[in-house]
Order: sequence, then structure tokens, then C-alpha cells
Amino acid sequence: MCGIVGFVGHKNAANKIINGLKRLEYRGYDSAGIALVEKGSGKLCVIKTAGKIADLEHEVQSGYSGSSETGIGHTRWATHGKPTKDNAHPHATEFIALVHNGIIENYADLRKRLASYGISLYSDTDTEVVAQMISFLFSKGASPLEAVQQTISLIQGAYAFGVVFNKHPEMVICARQGSPLAVGTDVDGRLSLGSDAVALSGFASQIIYLESGDIAQLYSNGNLNIFDKENNEVKRQWQPIDKDQAAPDKKGYEHFMLKEIFEQPSTIKNTLTHYIGRAVNKTDNVLETNIHPSGLNWNQINHITIVACGTSYYAGLVAKYWFEKYARIPVEVDVASEYRYRTPPIYEKSIGIFISQSGETADTLAALRYMRSLGHMCAAIVNVPTSTLAREADAVLPTFAGTEVSVASTKAFTAQMTVLAYMLIEALKTRNCIDLSADFAKEILDINELISRALDTMQKLAPLAKKLSKAKDIIYFGRGALYPIAMEGALKMKELSYIHAEGYAAGEMKHGPIALIDKGMPIIVLCPYDKDGLFHKVVSNICEAETRGAQISVLTCNKGRALFKEMGLKYSTYLYPETTQFTAPMLYSIPVQFLAYLTALNRGVDIDQPRNLAKSVTVE
Ligand code: AGP
Repeated sequence: MCGIVGFVGHKNAANKIINGLKRLEYRGYDSAGIALVEKGSGKLCVIKTAGKIADLEHEVQSGYSGSSETGIGHTRWATHGKPTKDNAHPHATEFIALVHNGIIENYADLRKRLASYGISLYSDTDTEVVAQMISFLFSKGASPLEAVQQTISLIQGAYAFGVVFNKHPEMVICARQGSPLAVGTDVDGRLSLGSDAVALSGFASQIIYLESGDIAQLYSNGNLNIFDKENNEVKRQWQPIDKDQAAPDKKGYEHFMLKEIFEQPSTIKNTLTHYIGRAVNKTDNVLETNIHPSGLNWNQINHITIVACGTSYYAGLVAKYWFEKYARIPVEVDVASEYRYRTPPIYEKSIGIFISQSGETADTLAALRYMRSLGHMCAAIVNVPTSTLAREADAVLPTFAGTEVSVASTKAFTAQMTVLAYMLIEALKTRNCIDLSADFAKEILDINELISRALDTMQKLAPLAKKLSKAKDIIYFGRGALYPIAMEGALKMKELSYIHAEGYAAGEMKHGPIALIDKGMPIIVLCPYDKDGLFHKVVSNICEAETRGAQISVLTCNKGRALFKEMGLKYSTYLYPETTQFTAPMLYSIPVQFLAYLTALNRGVDIDQPRNLAKSVTVE
């Protein structure tokens, strides 16, 4: 989603801004721009493009010959107004230029107000009202800081913005409310600003994550003034930039997504190592597992509410199956954008679990704030430990997946399920289901091995992916904890290949969706054998679809395939290691990710940055 960078007092600021924007490309965007303030003349130079950073870089190289040391840059993910050059940021007037991430909800009122001052707007965006208002107040004699403070008092919504003034080439002002924003400093004390640490890594050695409501003035001499929401000057803590957040590298893989799919055995292992220990008792060779305490008191928890979006939501749905079946704890799972608007009942002895790769998803954050405002204990499962969600939650259970660059989430998803599996194991142990807890701990400690074996056979999906790449619609079937994986498979397919796909609980098919099936419709079925599971039920559902002309492909295990043979059913089958109902969702995530990847590869689309999508969705 929209990304911001800015530099003050840096030689060749234009280059640095372009490099910073390149680091933000992974977030997803559709237009970009840059504003520079000339040192001597105070001239503002704004260059924008409706295309990619490479186009912007070209325009800057060919159209800018100044030597500015101060400037701001932006990648825009369009919300209000199409992705055109006019709507791209920075939004500029004679006096100022501004970049913004977020949504100004009362922009229509502010437009009217500006019109009453005789100011008309050139773009269709919500952002331009902020630029025009700051500029208007500044032109009427307010200082830059006063102009920003007075404008902020008028706006409603979420924002992170950076603003430069023609008469102040020595300064950048930035502010945030809701949307994330950080200030960086390099070893020589030169300041910068960015949407996240990734934008600033390579320029800054330390970073301050601004608090919601903060306004900061960054000066070229290294002075930094920060004011909180009451306009009191405050000090915020510098933190070293995490090396992990340095500019990402494909390490020889064709795409980040492919690299991230193949990293899963090690990212799961990293995550497990943090939560569950394994030791071999030398005397009798018994495998011991040691469950590290999370600080959550499972004896005091009788209800769980899980809130998340997209892929993270599906991790929550898997956890619902696990916790209800094995720990007998009732679980509600909500998509974050719905949660706080449905006025949910609040339960005694309940915990909220908020799941997010980025930790910056606006809907998930708003839901967390809502639940905390009701006095509830909220835990966060996040992949970015410095994120807003991690900072605002009462307890944090990090995933150790490392930076995920591909917009389509893969390794973060399996790491989220790993943490949820650990939480289940800890809950079972605390609630006196010691044996089941120990069995699950042993099983989960082996999942990375099973996933490695599955990854070795992934290319076998290539012919299927080739066929799927020509499909108009694809259906995924799953039951039990594989139903969320069917939905996740369909989401991955939609995101990457732009083919319409849906995941169904296989038994639900006959209640309506079966009407969609006609000759040749591809159906991908997640159907490993499981002794007390739903294998035979899924087989019946497959038969119902096949009789109506569907083309069935089954992801299963050896035992599953043998049973299909015994029943005389001849489907294309793809084989994966034996699992249990507990570990199956993690293992079967891998082929559905890979299938979506290969299908997109056949269609020649942009795999790491699919159209219209953003890596962290920082607006509601
Ligand atoms: C997954 O492939 C998506 N791009 C998307 O659904 C994502 O999972 C969702 O936006 C939630 O993001 P978060 O985990 O960073 O909160």
C-alpha cells in the first residue's frame, strides 16, 4: 500500500528517494512521485508518473538537474481517484508538497471549506485537501508547524504524511495517526523518514517508530523535534534497524514467492525452536518435548476470538478446528473489517488473538483497539515484531518467518499456523491433556521434514498448472481443517493468476454451488486419508461432482490413492507424505501455494506484485 520516504540534509536526495521507493515497491502500488526543494532558490520540483518506479527514475534522470538535499517520495495505491499522474503524490501548491498514506474521511467537507476560501482542487484524491489546507494556512502567516497542527485538528481519518516547504529547504515535517511512519538517522546524524524499516534500511542505522498522534520536525543539521497528540514536545526511543529488514534478496530464485515457498521448512523450524524444545534422553532414548511458556494462562481462558484478514484469517479458521476439537475451547473467527461493526458479545475469560504478517493491517489494528477498549486481553501473532500491532497488543507471539516480500503470503501463513499449533499444545498441557499435548508436540516438530519431502515433488504439479492456466473458474474442495486450506488455495489462485477460484467445504457443494459444474470444470480436492477423518465423505462429494462433468485432481497420500484404486476411482492424484488431521492443514498449504505459483507462471503475470494488491493494507 502507499509508501513514504523522505530525506533532509542528504547529498543527492533525488537518488536516495528513488532507492528508498524501490525498497517500498514490494508493498504494491500503481503510481509514484517525488518532490525536491532546491537549497538556494527554495524552488519546489515535483515529478510524478502513473507507472512504475523505473519510469519515475527515468524521468528524474532526464528531467531534473538540480542538487537538492531535501525531498519526499511516494508510491501510491489508489483509493480515491484513479491511478493517474494528477492523482499521484506528492500533491503540491506554490508553497508546499505533501505525500500521504491513509484515508482522509472528511475530505468532502474540507473540499467545501477550501472552495469557500476560493481554492479549487486539481485531483480526485482525498489527500489533496490536506496539502491545500497546510499551504493555505502557511500562506496566511502560520509557521510550518502551526500550519500542520491546525490542519491536523481539521482532519478525520488515518494518515501518515510528510511535507516540505519551499521556504524551508532545511526541514521536513511529518505526522501520523493510525498509519505507520518512522524516522531514521544514519551514523552521521542525518535524518530520513519512511513508512517502515525496509524503506530506511541502507540509509539509517537507527529508527524511531512514531506514535499515533505524533508530529515530527526533521532538520538538515540532525535536530529532531517530536510533539505528541497534545502538542507537548516528547522524546521517543531510537532502536537499531533490524538486519533482517535490510533490502530483500531473491537468492537466485526467479521470484520472491518461489524463494519463500521453499524457505518454509526452515521458517517453521525457526518458529518452532522458539516455542517448543526437543531433547533426546540418552539413557532410554526417549524423545522429550519442552513447551516454553507463553505467559498466557490457559486455565483462565474459556473462549477465544480470532480476528484477521485474508490469508491470516484462514490461519485463524484452522485454529478454530484445532482448539474446538482438541481443547474443547469455543472459538469465534472474524474477518477484521467486520468484527467491530457487528457489535460482538464480549465473553468472560475470553482472549482475543489478532493474526497479521505485517502487523500494520488497518482493519486488524482497528479491531484490536476496539477489543482492548472493552477491557479485553489481546494477543498478537505477527511476523514484524516492531509493527504497530505488536506494540499495541497485551501479549506478542512472533512468527519467525523472516521478511516476506511476495505480496502473496506463504511462509508467514505456515508460521502463523505453527504458532497457533504451539498455543493449542500449551493449552492442552495446562488443561491436563498431557498425553495429547506431548503427541502433538512430537508431530509438529516433524512437520518441517514432511514439508521438505513434499517440496521435492512439487514439479509434478506442472502439467496440472498448465491446464489450469486456461481455466475460467477453479473450485477447491476440503473438509474439516482442510476447508480453510481449500479457501486459501482459491485465494492464492485468484491473487496470482487472476482466475476466478472458490474454496468450498466439500459437503456444502450440493446446496448450491454444484449448479456451477459443467463439463471440464477443474476441481482440486484436498483429500488425504485419515482414519477418523472425513475421507469417505469427501470421496462421495467428489463422485457427485465428477458425475456432472468436473475434472477432478486429488491431493492425497499413498493410503488415499490405494483406497481410490480399490473403489475403482481413477482421478489424477498427487501424492504427499502421510499426515494426521492435526498436521494436514500445514502440509497441504504447500501444494496449493505451488499450484497457484505455477499457474501464474504459465500466464506470464507479475507474480511478486499482482495487480491491484498491496503487501500491507494500511487503509480500512
Ligand atoms: C495473502 O496472500 C494476501 N496478500 C492477504 O490476504 C493478506 O494475508 C491480508 O491482507 C492480511 O495481511 P496481514 O497478514 O499482513 O495482516
